[in-house]
This record gives sequence, structure tokens and C-alpha cells, in this order.
Amino acid sequence: MRVITSARAFSDALEGERALGRRVGLVPTMGALHAGHRSLVERAAIECDIVAVTVFVNPLQFNVAEDLVNYPRDLEGDVSQAADSGASIVFAPPVPEMYPGFPAPVATSVHVDAVGDGLEGASRPGHFDGVATVVAKLCSLAGKSRVYFGEKDFQQLAVVRRMVTDLSLPVEIVACPTVREESGLALSSRNVRLSDDGRLAALALHRALTAGLGALDAGERDPVRVNAFMRDVLNATEGVSPDYAVAVDAATLATPEKLSGEVRLLVAATVGPVRLIDNVGMVLEPAEAPVGVT
Ligand code: PAJ
Repeated sequence: MRVITSARAFSDALEGERALGRRVGLVPTMGALHAGHRSLVERAAIECDIVAVTVFVNPLQFNVAEDLVNYPRDLEGDVSQAADSGASIVFAPPVPEMYPGFPAPVATSVHVDAVGDGLEGASRPGHFDGVATVVAKLCSLAGKSRVYFGEKDFQQLAVVRRMVTDLSLPVEIVACPTVREESGLALSSRNVRLSDDGRLAALALHRALTAGLGALDAGERDPVRVNAFMRDVLNATEGVSPDYAVAVDAATLATPEKLSGEVRLLVAATVGPVRLIDNVGMVLEPAEAPVGVT
């Protein structure tokens, strides 16, 4: 395992690997690795010849200063988990290596319109600019590679995909399914901040999504009604303050008049001091033509 802290050395290392004919996989993270992150690294290790994990708590994407200070950090643990999952490089740059002059504002940043504006973008102003900026930098340092993201952060995935297309970055984005506890709770670095009661309350997010899927399964196609089913579940759980519960088109994240094709259900809620997000998807088959109609 090589732990690299210099941006130039990271870029050179991956360039060197490609020169030897190796396919490069990149897994961007903010550290505090758990089984969700590990699943990305494991997938990358299957599909690529060399895997680099980046561990960087990106100050640009935190809109609450306190969250940045409280973000869990454990580089030693991260390096060992990355190695166990099949990575051979960890890039863990200090902040000035990514943003010279920080905390002076960065002069160049990336904003992705539309897909980044609602939902998390609305609740956390500037968040996706920070994400898009750091991911653009990481991709640009890494060069031609496959870059792995979790569906857990579905809107982030949409923002990154759009950014990569619009900026013609030489990377291929790979989406990986959400890893959950047996209870249904999606793994998240933030879960450690939940109390025992909070952990139980947090299950409401998965219950809400399951209720939404049930409604779709039963033939409901009106997003307003699906949203209401999900919100009712969140509202019914003590200790949960819902932010949003929506059924959207999976590609645009916009709410259609009538749900069809690839649909994504997304929820966000605050449980105690922790804001949690989760989502699931379903592909709706086109309605069958009535018998006798050609
Ligand atoms: P972080 O929250 O550390 O997540 C790193 C990657 O792990 C993201 O692609 C995220 O979607 C994925 N992930 C997290 N929990 C997961 C789970 N339960 N199942 C599957 N994948 C999961 O997301 C970020 O960091 C940052 O915004 C980053 C992209 C690194 C930019 O700073």
C-alpha cells in the first residue's frame, strides 16, 4: 500500500500505472470508511488492475462549519480497510495541496445546474458546487480511469455524471448499489452520531421508501400520492423531522406529472442531530395495451 499526500505524486503514480498497461480504478471518499465504501473498492478491484482510494474531507462541500470539524477522521483505519478491500494506493492530501491559499475562497469552482439545484442542493446551498469541484480535481489528477460512486448519494451521482459529460473528463462513472444493515438502515459515516433511540427512529427512512415502492407496485403512478405515502411514514415516527420524500424521474430528478420508466424515490430527514438521506429505484413497465387493441 502506498499512501500519497502530494497531488503531483498521485497523478504521476497513476500515469505510471497506465504506462504499464494497467486499468485504473478510483474511489473518492471522505474517509471514515465502512462496508459501503469497501463495496466500491471491492468492485473496482474486480474491474480494474489497480485501485486508488482518495481520502479527503473536502471543506468546500460543508455548509455548516461544525459538521466539518466533527467529521470523523481515522486515516490509519482507512488505509487498512482500503488495503483489505483491494486498493494499493491511498491519496490523502492535506487541504492546501488541493486548495492552495485555503481558507481564501477558491477562484474556480464547478456548478452543475438543474440536477444539483433541488433536494440536497436546496437544503445545503453550495454543497454540490463543493462536491463537483473536488471530484473534477480528483478526476483531472487521476486521468483516464473508472471512478466508483455509491447510489446511496443518488443526487451526487447524477451531479457527477452530468459534470463529467459537460466537462469531457476522461473518466467513466460506475454506480454501485447501496449497502444496508440487515435492519434496512443504509450505512453512513453519520450513523455513529445516532443514539440508540435515534438508530431505531432512523429506520423510518427505509420504511418510507418501502411504502413508496409498495404504492408503485400496486399501480400508483401519481407522484403526489406516492410522496404522501412516504411522508406519512416519516411523520408517524417520533424523533424524525422529514425534509423531503419524493418520487422523481431517475435521470432528471424532476417530478413528472405521471410516473413512468425509471423512477427513484428519495427521502431526507433529521434524526436527533443527524441529517440522513436514502433512496431506492424501480423501473415501471409500460402499461400493457388493453386486450383487443392493436
Ligand atoms: P463519502 O460520504 O465518504 O462517500 C464516498 C462514496 O461512498 C460515495 O460515492 C458514496 O455514495 C459511497 N457510499 C457511502 N455510503 C454508502 C453505502 N451505504 N453503500 C454504497 N455506497 C456508499 O460522497 C462523498 O464521500 C463525497 O461527497 C465525495 C464524493 C468523496 C467528494 O468529496
